[in-house]
Amino acid sequence: PMLVIKNISDLQSLIRAQKEAGKTIGFVPTMGALHAGHLSLVEEAGRQTDFVVVSIFVNPTQFNDPSDLEKYPRTLEADCQLLEASPCQAVFAPDVATIYPEPDSRQFNFGELEQVMEGRFRPGHFNGVAQVVSKLLGMVTPNKAFFGQKDFQQLVIVKAMVKQLTLPVEIIACPIVREASGLAMSSRNERLTAEQRENAAVIYQTLCEARNQVPGQSVESIKKMVVETINANPFLETEYFEIVNDNDLKPVRNWDEPVNKVACIAVFCGTVRLIDNLVLAET
Ligand code: PAJ
Repeated sequence: PMLVIKNISDLQSLIRAQKEAGKTIGFVPTMGALHAGHLSLVEEAGRQTDFVVVSIFVNPTQFNDPSDLEKYPRTLEADCQLLEASPCQAVFAPDVATIYPEPDSRQFNFGELEQVMEGRFRPGHFNGVAQVVSKLLGMVTPNKAFFGQKDFQQLVIVKAMVKQLTLPVEIIACPIVREASGLAMSSRNERLTAEQRENAAVIYQTLCEARNQVPGQSVESIKKMVVETINANPFLETEYFEIVNDNDLKPVRNWDEPVNKVACIAVFCGTVRLIDNLVLAET
């Protein structure tokens, strides 16, 4: 059975023993309700490091919507079963009181990185992510930590945080895993009806259409096309769509800028909020 660790001292004696045996530590932070997207990160961690730790912790400080926190699936048993067949060697599943013995009053400052897109529509979200990820990295002390490009802005913020705090860890970005329909895998997909789930595939289809129109169509006309196409689907409502450069998240104005251009979108499908992104052009 999977080794499940609840407290920090057990975690640290395990990690210390592994390091003393010369093993490198790979870490995959998650909020559980694991799917093939999470597992792809664990597989990559297994390829790049000797001892893989997965954390499962639904972090209250990153939820700006209390009902989203309440409805977030908690499936530790099933998660451990999935991880049995993976390179994961230990699950760290702490209680809230273990991570937050007192309220975390730290205010990170990521400047514009946290004021656009997800940061704009989910105030406080990235501060909560930085709080929990900085604590988890401090507890696990991995050589490498693995994050999905699915949460592209989170990845940029985590890299900025690691730099600000000069943490001795390498952040590894892993590609988005999609369902057969193209819909990006997410724990929230489980809350969609079959009909909604089918229609949600339009998000990725439209991002691909946008990519196919580069560089023939202007940035503005592609943005208009994406929002109109998605909103024309009765199941979908765009919250934002931005084409940004991948280092400072500033909006791209034309295709000759020498930056990687990433199309980022948030769409409501009923009450379920879905995000996705696609690299439109690389330098
Ligand atoms: P969670 O949403 O559980 O995601 C954990 C990791 O899995 C993140 O790095 C996320 O980008 C990655 N991931 C999710 N879906 C993916 C997909 N379809 N393809 C590839 N990777 C995918 O992100 C969080 O948790 C939290 O914010 C966390 C970092 C754990 C801090 O609480």
